Amino acid sequence: MHLFPIVVAACGVYASHAAQGKKPKSPTIPTVKIIDVLSSNGNFSSFLLSLQRSGLVDVLEDYENVTVLAPTNEAFDAIGVSHLKLDQDTLDQFIVDAPITSANVSGVEIYNSLNAKGSPYIKDVHIPVLFDNTDDSFMIENSEVVYPDLLAPSSNAVVQGLDSLLTNRKHSLCDYFADVGDLWSDVSFSLFAHLLTANDYCKKVKFSNVTMLLPSDEHASHNVNDVEYAYLINERGLKDRAILLNNYVLEGITGGNLPQTLRRNLNGDEVILSSRHSGEEIVVNNSSHAMNSNYLLSDGILHYFDSRILESPKKPIFTPRSYMIGLNRSDFVDEIDFRKLSSLIDNVTIPQTVFLVRDTSVSANGQLKNELLYQFAEGKLDLDHEMLADSKFCSQPSLGHCQKIKVGIVGGGMTVINDHSIIYPERYEVGNTYIYLVDDDIPTPPKLEHALGPMDRCAETLQYLDHFGFLKFKANKGNGYTVFLPTSDAWNRLDLTLTYLTANMKKMSKVLRNMQLNGLVYSDFEGQREISTGNDDSIMIEHQPESDIISINGTAELPFTFASQVLFKDGVAYPVDRVLIPDTVDISMLDLMETIDADEFINILKLVGYEDLLTNGNYSFIVPSTGALVMDNITAQSDPDFLVKFASLHILPGDAIKKVMACEPIIPTLLNDTHLSCHRLASGGLVLTIIEGNDHETRILRKGFTTDDTGLLLIDKPINPKWMDHPGTAPIHLHLPLVAILVGIVLGMALLASIITCCFVLTVGDTEPDEENRDGTVDETTPLAEPVEGSSDGYGSYEPQAPVEPVTKGFSERYSTHSTTQAMDCPRPI
Ligand SMILES: *[C@@H]1O[C@H](CO)[C@@H](O)[C@H](O)[C@H]1NC(C)=O
Ligand SMILES: *[C@@H]1O[C@H](CO)[C@@H](O)[C@H](O)[C@H]1NC(C)=O
Ligand SMILES: *[C@@H]1O[C@H](CO)[C@@H](O)[C@H](O)[C@H]1NC(C)=O
Ligand SMILES: *[C@@H]1O[C@H](CO)[C@@H](O)[C@H](O)[C@H]1NC(C)=O
Ligand SMILES: *[C@@H]1O[C@H](CO)[C@@H](O)[C@H](O)[C@H]1NC(C)=O
Ligand SMILES: *[C@@H]1O[C@H](CO)[C@@H](O)[C@H](O)[C@H]1NC(C)=O
Repeated sequence: MHLFPIVVAACGVYASHAAQGKKPKSPTIPTVKIIDVLSSNGNFSSFLLSLQRSGLVDVLEDYENVTVLAPTNEAFDAIGVSHLKLDQDTLDQFIVDAPITSANVSGVEIYNSLNAKGSPYIKDVHIPVLFDNTDDSFMIENSEVVYPDLLAPSSNAVVQGLDSLLTNRKHSLCDYFADVGDLWSDVSFSLFAHLLTANDYCKKVKFSNVTMLLPSDEHASHNVNDVEYAYLINERGLKDRAILLNNYVLEGITGGNLPQTLRRNLNGDEVILSSRHSGEEIVVNNSSHAMNSNYLLSDGILHYFDSRILESPKKPIFTPRSYMIGLNRSDFVDEIDFRKLSSLIDNVTIPQTVFLVRDTSVSANGQLKNELLYQFAEGKLDLDHEMLADSKFCSQPSLGHCQKIKVGIVGGGMTVINDHSIIYPERYEVGNTYIYLVDDDIPTPPKLEHALGPMDRCAETLQYLDHFGFLKFKANKGNGYTVFLPTSDAWNRLDLTLTYLTANMKKMSKVLRNMQLNGLVYSDFEGQREISTGNDDSIMIEHQPESDIISINGTAELPFTFASQVLFKDGVAYPVDRVLIPDTVDISMLDLMETIDADEFINILKLVGYEDLLTNGNYSFIVPSTGALVMDNITAQSDPDFLVKFASLHILPGDAIKKVMACEPIIPTLLNDTHLSCHRLASGGLVLTIIEGNDHETRILRKGFTTDDTGLLLIDKPINPKWMDHPGTAPIHLHLPLVAILVGIVLGMALLASIITCCFVLTVGDTEPDEENRDGTVDETTPLAEPVEGSSDGYGSYEPQAPVEPVTKGFSERYSTHSTTQAMDCPRPI
């Protein structure tokens, strides 16, 4: 019916045809062209007017083999205009490049418009147009076809009358994604959109004339984790980003009602597209169904998926480098490249662990090669326990091997590197590399003096070492050094001995050298090993598994724990609670006497013939200074008998000195039948009284020890024989009848029992001295007791809280020990 000419139509265009004299033939030869169709139907007058006003009537007149998408007058009315200003490009969007009637369209079909300027990047991409014909409706794009299939046979054309205007120009693909915003509220596609657009990627690679299969965020994130994603959207990840994206970009615009259609993605892989529901739903590889299909852009088509799209998309090979970039440490990567260490971060096969500073404000710029290498450790390390890891910084000349990294676990389960930087729990794994983030920089172990801060408890040792130049560690054939660093407390406990040593630098230097071992003894050392000291003496060290102490020559013990070890440039150091004095250093009683004003005391000893005892090595001395003697009017001029008693009272035989140090209640002296008793002041100081005397007491001011383990105690005032109950009489027991002796024994037993009761728990040691001892059987030749707990340590400390310990025989022979072997807290300042 439409083919019949409607000759009465009052249209200028038609009139012009008529004027050309074709009118008579019209009834027999149909010459209905597109314009005829439009002008003969009153519904299109606004469209026609628009064509006229835009001067496009002639253009349309010439089109053949096309479909014209003609908006009806209602479409113009709906937006309140009488006509539109059109240009040819816009007009061409209304023209499909083939005559299509509704009968040709089954479901969703995609055709090309005549507008070939769809792409900003390549020529001749025709803007696609979507037809959707079902039993219920016939739609073109979003418009309903209200007057379908008006034929213009002379032009071999079809006019489709639409109820709305198709003037919304489609975006190009890249423009569309550039401001995609929150297009999808339920299912987000922003990850993919971001990959496409970050760093203007889409525009750079000029995606155009393509079909995109978009995975939702949920499924995009199956392909890559957060760090990988951060890397991919980084400028440096472009190449790898392409590999990932190109899986989902197919050449050409494909959509609508499709038979099985083979397409290639930009990686060159084949992808089969097909459709269901008459083209409403696109299916990939016969398995993945799009949730939204056929979204047309001027140079592309989008199909959205909320399910896995491809079985095995091509993935970029992520490397430690990728991860470091993804973790925002491009500066580190740059520095690695600059130092020509790139292979460390590009090789995915080497088993290694990297400690990366998380804080981007700690820049890697300008880091030295060694510092960079120190952030890499050999092997894939699970940091669930304390360990010494081997770093890749291996060129320290004083060390024969690579610098270690101390990974400690501190209170609360935090993992800490070199007692300084905290390691975050999360671990990244890429290839054979583990990456841990740390909160602060990880400098290579510094020089010893810097490994231990100036404020900590080892400062005194460092000062001594510095004084002797012992802080300059030479490259000792790559053996490295192990240094024991006595704490300030340990030095202070030496007291007079230290005074002597500091006045005798040669000996002091030997003491210090003795605690610097040539060789590395890390806390994981087990078993026995011979090692030389800085004095070139050979010593034997031994460490049992799990033990907190290391034994030196089987005699001395030093604390030796993982936590206390401090790594430094040339080795490892251990803060210790005692000073070891080597065999080669002799400190005699006379040496100690030099440190105090003992002239008058020595004079008295000479006078009474006890001079030899000074050098005998078996006696300890309680010494009042000359000043104190003069004060008490005790001088070489005093009565000789008095002086003998006086001197004897100030000499302790054998290991009686240990009893003083342990502050025991009964301490024998050289004076027969006369004992001292020690008690502790609240302040911690020790005072001595004569048991067989009145309440007078003297206070121990200082102490010192010889290498024979005898001691010198400086006291504030002399122990005066006059303090004794019967200073002038002979020993009491000579005058006692047998009964009295028996009574004495009973009383002694009672005393012993009470001492044991009172002190057993505390001392566990047996306080053997009893009534018999008072008979004078205690002297330098009679051992009072087997190693007595609390007194075994010849250099016991004053401190009331200082613990005591059992020690093997010979322990105190050469080495001074001053308190328990506990790991010393000697931390680095943070
Ligand atoms: C609009 O088109 C329809 C179908 O071609 C026709 O029946 C109707 O008369 C037209 N209306 C006007 C006002 O020309
Ligand atoms: C229209 O199609 C016919 C036959 O298919 C062809 O001969 C003619 O050249 C085409 N016209 C245009 C303008 O392409
Ligand atoms: C668009 O892609 C298809 C499929 O690869 C191709 O055949 C066609 O030539 C392309 N068009 C342009 C203008 O490049
Ligand atoms: C990297 O830094 C940016 C800001 O500087 C931040 O938004 C992002 O979360 C960081 N990425 C990672 C993995 O820490
Ligand atoms: C000190 O001792 C001497 C002799 O032992 C004696 O002559 C003198 O009076 C004493 N002086 C005092 C103040 O006790
Ligand atoms: C002390 O007693 C022993 C034996 O009991 C005796 O050999 C020694 O001479 C006495 N010492 C003194 C100073 O009386």
